[in-house]
Amino acid sequence: MSNLIENSPVQKLVTALHQEFQRSPKAGGVMDLLGNYCQKETDWKCYAHFSDDCYTRNLIARTELFDLIVLCWGKDQVSPIHNHAGQRCWMTVLEGSIFETLYQHKSDSNVNHLEKGETRTYDQGVVGYITDNIALHVIGATPEKPAISLHLYSLPYDECNIYDPVTGEVSPKKLFFHTVDGQPA
Ligand code: SIN
Repeated sequence: MSNLIENSPVQKLVTALHQEFQRSPKAGGVMDLLGNYCQKETDWKCYAHFSDDCYTRNLIARTELFDLIVLCWGKDQVSPIHNHAGQRCWMTVLEGSIFETLYQHKSDSNVNHLEKGETRTYDQGVVGYITDNIALHVIGATPEKPAISLHLYSLPYDECNIYDPVTGEVSPKKLFFHTVDGQPA
C-alpha cells in the first residue's frame, strides 16, 4: 500500500528500512535511518495534513514489516494513553517539539490503575523508541506550537488499547488513517 515517487528521499528511506528489517530482527540501524532522513529531507511535507478536530495519522507506506506514518499535532492535540499492540514503535520529530508522558498499567485484585512516570520532550531530529514492555504513553505537541512527527511501527497494527486516566480502565481502539499517499483516506 504505497505510491511513492521513484528515487525520492522518502522512497529511498522506505527501501532502506525494509532492507534493515530483513537484514536483522533487531533492526539496529533504524534509528540512524530515521534520524538522517529527518535532518536532511523535506519531502514528508506532502503527507502533512492537519485537522481542527484531532491529531491526524497520514500513511506514507505499509509493508508486511512496518507502517511509516506522519502524525500532525495541533497546539492542544494529544493522543489518549495507549499501548502499541505488542509492536515496536520509533518516533522522530520533523517539525516543532513533541512531549511524551510515560505510564505503567497496574492491576491489583482486578482493580486497574495507572502509575504516571516521567515526561520528556523531543525536539526536531531526535529519535525515540517505545514498546509495551517499556511503558504506555501519551504524546502530543508541546503547548507553544503545532508539531509533526514521523512514526514507524513494526509490525503494522490496526488496533491498540487505550487507558482511562482516572479509572485505568482499558478499551480497544481501532486505528485509521486520515490520508493515504497524501490523499484523504
Ligand atoms: C498513534 O499512532 O496514533 C499514536 C502515536 C504513537 O504512539 O506513536
